[in-house]
Amino acid sequence: MIVVPVHCSGCNYEVVIGPDGLDRAGTVLGSLLRRPRVAIIADRTAYDLHGATLERSLAGAGITFTVMQVPPGEQSKNWQFAGRLLEQMAHERIERHEAIIAFGGGVVGDIAGFVAGVYMRGVDYYQIPTTLLSQVDSSVGGKTGVDLAAGKNLAGVFVQPRAVIADTALLATLSQIELKSGLAEVVKTAILDGEQHMVRLKRDSHSLLAGDTAVISEVVADCVRFKASVVQADEREAGPRESLNLGHTLAHAIEKVAGYGVIPHGLAVAAGLRFAAGLSVRLGLASDHFAARQVELLDALGLSPTLVDLDIDAVRYAMRSDKKVRAGEIRFILATEPGSWTVIPVEDRMIAEELNAFLAADIERHKSM
Ligand SMILES: NC(=O)c1ccc[n+]([C@@H]2O[C@H](COP(=O)([O-])OP(=O)(O)OC[C@H]3O[C@@H](n4cnc5c(N)ncnc54)[C@H](O)[C@@H]3O)[C@@H](O)[C@H]2O)c1
Repeated sequence: MIVVPVHCSGCNYEVVIGPDGLDRAGTVLGSLLRRPRVAIIADRTAYDLHGATLERSLAGAGITFTVMQVPPGEQSKNWQFAGRLLEQMAHERIERHEAIIAFGGGVVGDIAGFVAGVYMRGVDYYQIPTTLLSQVDSSVGGKTGVDLAAGKNLAGVFVQPRAVIADTALLATLSQIELKSGLAEVVKTAILDGEQHMVRLKRDSHSLLAGDTAVISEVVADCVRFKASVVQADEREAGPRESLNLGHTLAHAIEKVAGYGVIPHGLAVAAGLRFAAGLSVRLGLASDHFAARQVELLDALGLSPTLVDLDIDAVRYAMRSDKKVRAGEIRFILATEPGSWTVIPVEDRMIAEELNAFLAADIERHKSM
């Protein structure tokens, strides 16, 4: 098992990574829980596949549990569903010193963390992320929340988990599309982390796609180490943590226009990363060579989503409701070279031109595939 510590002013916990995490969950949680009773908020699909192993592990450690299932998909990450979970928590008489386990991908992690943050003004919670995206990114760092009709993640709280258990063997049952979705966040991390990470990821791309668990565990650990360092430097996203939004301005707009859940978050991020790479060249902030390397990395991991069916004007409009909009200007996080980035306001006219050029290139690319 690989153990990565996460420290920040409001947190001090470990991320345990490896292929037998679920078997060890009872032992890990047993030493941390204030009372041996938990509410498991679980993605229904992940629970059908792997819940029995978790239950065995908890029972073996004398931990009792109640299970609340969440229908798979972004559609569940909303205010109404969070309310239902809160009512269910109260109905099950979950007490202040008991805890929540989030068992699933980023959707369940975000909504369960949110519920943990507000139920009785806050109860402990633990993350057992079951998708690649949630293992490399969303389970660490304490950002939780739900979507509003006006946009993604518009209501939320910062709540740090007490521990994260990332069992990389669970990823074997992920669909190819969900695996690739996580790989987009892996590419984002490598670009932000720097040269060595980009080179390592390119080298490991075949093994990753082939599902090599040892390589996947190392890749997850690399990403968690980077995220932990960013969270440590900036717990509340007042500075460096903003970099993690690389590719996300366009991604969130795509998800909104397509309808939440229609395009997996990570594939929207892959499109956002391609767009950001091109925009940074257009603004003279990065070299063609660096942009080409980012696109190569995305290609090597099969990350070439298309926007062909989307209403591009609606996408541009949707970017305006992004949390990164300040005084009406859309601010983009752009990578300038491996490991370096900047945040810059971009004029609406230039965004429109770039989006049209991006779409034209997208159409050509998909014709030749
Ligand atoms: N809090 C953060 O810092 C942060 C960061 C990035 C993304 N996010 C959020 O994460 C969400 C996306 O997360 P996601 O990509 O994990 O999606 P997800 O939670 O919707 O899971 C994707 C799909 O995988 C299925 N699944 C989960 N585990 C499985 C397994 N082991 N085997 C088979 N199927 C499995 C689920 O049922 C679902 O259909 C978005 O809502 C995004 O906003 C949050």
